[in-house]
Amino acid sequence: MLLVLIAKFLMLLATCETMTMKQIRNTGKMMRKSCQPKNNATDEQLDPLNEGVFIDEKEVKCYMACIMRMANTMKNGEPNYDAAVKQADLLLPEEMKQPAKEALFACKKVPDDYKDPCDAAFHVTKCIFNHNPSIFFFP
Ligand SMILES: *[C@@H]1O[C@H](CO)[C@@H](O)[C@H](O)[C@H]1NC(C)=O
Repeated sequence: MLLVLIAKFLMLLATCETMTMKQIRNTGKMMRKSCQPKNNATDEQLDPLNEGVFIDEKEVKCYMACIMRMANTMKNGEPNYDAAVKQADLLLPEEMKQPAKEALFACKKVPDDYKDPCDAAFHVTKCIFNHNPSIFFFP
């Protein structure tokens, strides 16, 4: 099942088809199923993410880095602005592309301050949320 979902996700990437919010949520669920156990993160730690509550704990931070890796928005172990813009253009619903790219641009330099990929993923995501909570979604 997981493999089928991953294959479907990669197919979406390959065909440049944007996703609906429902597809994004389903893809997010699939990513969480893979990243949550890998990082020993509990539901209590992860569920608040969607309300913009970022718990500063290793499990949460590394979970976020895992999700970003799966979403192809990391390069060389750090969140990558160009990769994220590319993914936003490819995948997000039309009305979300511009606001998402604005938030990414506003947070472009945040990862520079952190060596650790988990720290960088955590702080860049927090920055994106603070910039525009209305478009924020985290699986
Ligand atoms: C998760 O917990 C297991 C068992 O306690 C441990 O062996 C593993 O190293 C932990 N993984 C991470 C990423 O912390």
